[in-house]
Amino acid sequence: MTQDASAPPDKRELLEQLEAAGQQHVLTFWEELSSDRQRALAADLTAIDMAEINRLFRGQGGDDDWAALAERAQPPPAFRLGGDDEEFSLEQAHERGRAALAEGQVGVVLVAGGQGTRLGFDHPKGMFSVGPVSGASLFQILIEGVVAVARTYGKSVPLYLMTSHATHEATIAFLDEHDRFGLPQEDLHVFQQGTMPAVDAETGKLLLAEKGRLFVSPDGHGGMLAAFNRSGAMADVEARGIRQLFYLQIDNPLTCVCDEALIGYHVKSGSQLSTQVVAKQHPTDRVGNVVSIDGQVRIIEYSDLPAAIATQTNDDGSLRLWAGNTAVHVFDTDFLRRMSGEAAGLPFHLARKKVPYVDASGQLIRPESPNAIKFERFIFDLLPSARQAIAVEIDRQKAYAPVKNAPGSNDSTPAAAQAQMVALHTEWLRAAGVEVHAQVDDGVAIEISPLYARHADEVSGRVAVGTRITEATYLGSPT
Ligand code: UTP
Repeated sequence: MTQDASAPPDKRELLEQLEAAGQQHVLTFWEELSSDRQRALAADLTAIDMAEINRLFRGQGGDDDWAALAERAQPPPAFRLGGDDEEFSLEQAHERGRAALAEGQVGVVLVAGGQGTRLGFDHPKGMFSVGPVSGASLFQILIEGVVAVARTYGKSVPLYLMTSHATHEATIAFLDEHDRFGLPQEDLHVFQQGTMPAVDAETGKLLLAEKGRLFVSPDGHGGMLAAFNRSGAMADVEARGIRQLFYLQIDNPLTCVCDEALIGYHVKSGSQLSTQVVAKQHPTDRVGNVVSIDGQVRIIEYSDLPAAIATQTNDDGSLRLWAGNTAVHVFDTDFLRRMSGEAAGLPFHLARKKVPYVDASGQLIRPESPNAIKFERFIFDLLPSARQAIAVEIDRQKAYAPVKNAPGSNDSTPAAAQAQMVALHTEWLRAAGVEVHAQVDDGVAIEISPLYARHADEVSGRVAVGTRITEATYLGSPT
């Protein structure tokens, strides 16, 4: 839509454009609005591509026919745990990853713009306290991960942190309050993703959050592609000579930030976009399926993979489509730059959600069941465009414990993530010869900050063999 944002909004002109798209109902309360609110609403409407919204709602230009694609899905090109017939070993990959980090050519992208509705936490998810002993927030654990990498390799590691209109201000205030958890100011680049309106699931009509305000939500983690460029993050990456970007999401406290093996496999394979994967535990595991379709790596959401295909097995009984997406990736900067020129081409995925809205009589309705369609872009839709995309397997127990759902849910809860952190860190200490007498089952927990150790072998350099631990212990930054 077009309108001059500085001029007083012309209702007639707006109405004409809205009528052409069948969306004129959004001006129902126009006369009740102050001129400032009229101006704000007009600006919001002007920013929307109404034809695109209508096209997406009618099912044109949105989701693929996943059932048909799944028919042709094969396992992806992958480096498997314990694989012995690979081009290069885990040790060689580690070494290459260490070299890339020592050369200071790696930056980190952390996406934290989601609304975290399933967790039911009233702040950005990054502020959620998950440390089993320390109570550290997800932001603290993951940012300490970045700081730890910088300390280990003696190079600055820039963090590009994506927020959204829903999380930006609270995130900035939280990071300021905690001095960015030790990350130097010049190494933190916060950028905000865009938004998309939601429409009524039956009619395709835009929804009003208030009489003078459209309901909008963050445009998906794929919104990163456009926002990264727009915000100047890409220019910063180029100025610093960063060649790989390690991408992670805010909800997995077990992510090994800048995992050397993943970076190493990526570089050694000449991959432009690599994905860390876990072996699926069962056919309907709630992880995206990393597959290869017609020679291109793609991700099929668990909800889109037909059961008949998900349950297919190999001769040894293992799942044929075995690779589950952990949402940890490594991007080549050159690839990301090239793709950012085509950011508008990333497809939108449609999701049915519960969205409160103002109805025609001006009442705020809080629906009991999903009433709306939201449109989101997914960053992994870049995979088919990447040369040599690969999957790299990691042990789920050691690296994947996303906090998605509210306490008490069946899976992906804060308690499940904490139990996994305690089990892993207890294992690290035992491997270093520490006698750990208490277990999480007894209500006594062990937690290790990335500042203390990022890997098991770093623990042995820090503790004496035979040390006894009998109570809740948090090993933070060594003094
Ligand atoms: P999820 O898909 O789990 O969505 O995001 P969410 O918004 O956090 O949670 P629900 O679905 O409302 O419960 C996975 C990752 O992608 C980020 C999230 O912050 C999280 O790190 N994300 C998601 C964004 O940065 N922007 C978005 O628009 C959506």
